[in-house]
Amino acid sequence: MLQPADMNGKVALVTGAAAGLGRATAQRLAGLGAKVALVDVAAEGLEEAATSIREAGGEALVLALDLSQRANCAKAVEATVADAGRLDALCNVAGVMKPGPTETFPDEAWDLTMKVNLEAPFFLIRAGIPHLIESQGAIVNVTSCAAFQGQAYFAAYCATKAGLTHMTKALAMEYMKTPVRINAVAPGGMMTGLVGGMAALAECDRELTSRMGSLRGLCEVDDVADCVAFLATPAARSYHGACINIDAGVTAD
Ligand SMILES: NC(=O)c1ccc[n+]([C@@H]2O[C@H](COP(=O)([O-])OP(=O)(O)OC[C@H]3O[C@@H](n4cnc5c(N)ncnc54)[C@H](O)[C@@H]3O)[C@@H](O)[C@H]2O)c1
Repeated sequence: MLQPADMNGKVALVTGAAAGLGRATAQRLAGLGAKVALVDVAAEGLEEAATSIREAGGEALVLALDLSQRANCAKAVEATVADAGRLDALCNVAGVMKPGPTETFPDEAWDLTMKVNLEAPFFLIRAGIPHLIESQGAIVNVTSCAAFQGQAYFAAYCATKAGLTHMTKALAMEYMKTPVRINAVAPGGMMTGLVGGMAALAECDRELTSRMGSLRGLCEVDDVADCVAFLATPAARSYHGACINIDAGVTAD
């Protein structure tokens, strides 16, 4: 059962921490006692997130890094361990969403989606796992209901989220004999900066795009952050190789 000080003395690295779900997850983990390394490409949002954590009595380290650059993934882990001396949780939350018709889909949008959503989690995990084994820690990958639902005009995004979901399971098997726990959370739509990308769908077939959402509406960011943070704590000791869907019923049918 989750206890209020479950992350006391522990260190969590959260990517995408400048905004939305990443920021909410970092705030939740700091509230549970963790020192949090905040990683994002958006420096201004990172400072705001760090200030909110410090004002609430928590500890935050700011690492402004572009995770589409492979070397920055290892750098994020190394800087965290150099500063805090350990790593207990790695939450891969950063993501980009670039929808659009396939025939005109730009090479750059494909490359960025692969790098941020799929490659960065792998290279962060590769750098972090020795530390996480030592600390008996946890990895939480944020995927999406797009991993399970074929979403029109989202081929690149769906591919990365399905890939990250399945990578979570492959890693859970590979590290089965170690104490590290590796899980995923697959949210449905949340009102964050990411959904600004949906404007690109204005010219697309509405009959197809209208099939993506839940009849129950959007999910609350804080509800999803609670789940990501829980999986990062020792209270989630029985979870390994799981993907928890929090999508207000999108993947129920
Ligand atoms: N919002 C939704 O409807 C929704 C639904 C399902 C899954 N998700 C997933 O939740 C996660 C968080 O997204 P969000 O909704 O909070 O959106 P968001 O846009 O508010 O947050 C994403 C964060 O990732 C950061 N980021 C983007 N590219 C980066 C890079 N190259 N290097 C470092 N950081 C980078 C952004 O700066 C931003 O702070 C993403 O993985 C997203 O795919 C979101």
